[in-house]
Amino acid sequence: MTDELKQLLENNDRAFYVFDSKVLAERIAFLKKSLPEGTALCYAVKANPFVTGEIGEEVERLEICSPGEEEICRSLGIDSRRMVISGVYKTPSVLRRLAADESFQGIITIESVLQYQQLCTDAQGRQHPLRLLLRLTNGSQFGLDEQDLDQIVQQREQFPFLELAGVQFFSGTQKNSVKKFARELTYLDQYLLSLRERFGYQAAELEYGTGFPVSYFVGEELDETTLLREFSALLKELKCGSRIILELGRSMVASCGKYYTHIVDIKVNKGQHYALTDGGLHHITYFGQFMAMKQPYLSVVGKTDVLADKDFTICGALCTMNDILVKQVHLPEIRVGDVLCFERAGAYCMTEGISLLLSRDLPAIYLRGQDGALYRLRSPFETYIINQPKYERMF
Ligand SMILES: Cc1ncc(COP(=O)(O)O)c(C=O)c1O
Repeated sequence: MTDELKQLLENNDRAFYVFDSKVLAERIAFLKKSLPEGTALCYAVKANPFVTGEIGEEVERLEICSPGEEEICRSLGIDSRRMVISGVYKTPSVLRRLAADESFQGIITIESVLQYQQLCTDAQGRQHPLRLLLRLTNGSQFGLDEQDLDQIVQQREQFPFLELAGVQFFSGTQKNSVKKFARELTYLDQYLLSLRERFGYQAAELEYGTGFPVSYFVGEELDETTLLREFSALLKELKCGSRIILELGRSMVASCGKYYTHIVDIKVNKGQHYALTDGGLHHITYFGQFMAMKQPYLSVVGKTDVLADKDFTICGALCTMNDILVKQVHLPEIRVGDVLCFERAGAYCMTEGISLLLSRDLPAIYLRGQDGALYRLRSPFETYIINQPKYERMF
């Protein structure tokens, strides 16, 4: 156990997260190195808002999907040139504000004809054209149908204060099939070529949310080097001439996070060994963890060399039978007070949980910075305040 972890454990008698900037920087460098030269990266802030300030200049852009995420980026002093204001629902007042703000030099994605129409009105008279990416649908509620996108491209000269920078596409996450990437890239390539042929429009950019996978569970390791090599070969075959920006979330940040939770009770019920923790599904949730059928990478702090003793079902502190973190995992001999460390917890785990059920506290969040120092990003957060009724007489 490092001295730092020892100190953290001494200072925290409750669950907490630690994110590591160095691990994050190494991961980004690895991704950059694995992709063809000139491929840019865009970080999807939703994957982990807490490390947004640690995403260095190697990542050209940040994809921001809500006013809250925009607020987080602005509070960190992120330059608007790095912002991609995205999201299926963009608050009209946000669009109005951005359209009126000449100092805003980022990009806005267009997910519907309505969003486009609003900007056709609101951005009139701008000196610097507002840059837009047209999101092409994958057959879900997101993005524009081809016909609608075609029409926007066809009309582009009527609206010189709007610059169509290119096309954005995202079709889902945890994709590990090169065939699927090939199908999507071929489709996008052909569509972009057809925009050129039919409307004389060369999309300067293709921002592609690949949905690169993360292996979260024991027995589900993936051969990422091969996947990235084959994906890169596909990128090199594209004929559309658009600059490629890959929009990534989990693949960039999952590895930089760990979650620590204390064992607070141990019992045997009907022959089954249970370890109860001070955490739970309101703190940590992995993609595909449903009903705890899979086993995340975890260890007992300070006992990694100790042989497994028994199978335990690890449960959280929520009073719902669903609060099972792992079923039947081999653990060394454990005691109340031991701490479990869950790995690969840097993406979505800390925000996708059922945070408000039972009005329990959310964990503290720490960051090991590039400078080696440890920072606290959030103190333990009391949620009862959100759930507490406050009587304000209205009528
Ligand atoms: C538009 C868009 N881009 C990127 C992402 C990031 O996906 P992932 O975390 O799988 O890389 C998402 C996730 O929902 C998304 O909706």
